Amino acid sequence: MLKIAVFVSGRGSNLKAILDAKSNNYLNIDVKALVSDKLSCLAVNIAKENNIPVYFVSSILENDEFILYDKLISIFEENAIDLIVLAGFLKKLPEIFVEKFDNKIINIHPALLPSFGGKGMYGMNVHRAVFESSSKISGATVHFVDRIYDNGKIIAQRAVDISDVNSPEEIAERVLKIEHELLPFVIKKIDENKVVNKNGRVVILN
Ligand code: GRF
Repeated sequence: MLKIAVFVSGRGSNLKAILDAKSNNYLNIDVKALVSDKLSCLAVNIAKENNIPVYFVSSILENDEFILYDKLISIFEENAIDLIVLAGFLKKLPEIFVEKFDNKIINIHPALLPSFGGKGMYGMNVHRAVFESSSKISGATVHFVDRIYDNGKIIAQRAVDISDVNSPEEIAERVLKIEHELLPFVIKKIDENKVVNKNGRVVILN
């Protein structure tokens, strides 16, 4: 069973999609930890309702409710975490953390990378930029995390037609639906060891 940790900063609808996929027996996972940089957010409530251990992380010790990344590394090692899933986590991970879990951290981004990514490109900022560009398609991307924002190799993408939308909010709604399918799909493929590197490209085997 794949042992995972999910990182969040907000609403937690992707966390919920992962947990639903587990309840439906689509995913064979054990969510060992929920990590948040916010003391209170909807995602934290979802984790608590599901009896998932919650950790609040920060790069500096703000107060004793937070732990540092060093501590998180030991917790993950003790729990033999196989995969770290960033599902709406807004802080940049420290290099030491990214290096420690090389190829074990994935992120979901609400656009088709490498467009509309990078610093400041999160949440509605992304959908507004997509709307203003007059793009006719958008979508979701799941990629490995490296030291640069939204830069790691792409694992999977799904596109959606947005040629008829009237607002960035409509784009967000269409993309979110896709996210909720794409993220559990990628986690499943990783669990099945079907995400491999071939000729320098990340591919998903059938
Ligand atoms: C999602 O759109 C995700 O792609 C982005 O942040 C949002 C998080 O939404 N990285 P939620 O907290 O999972 O509802």
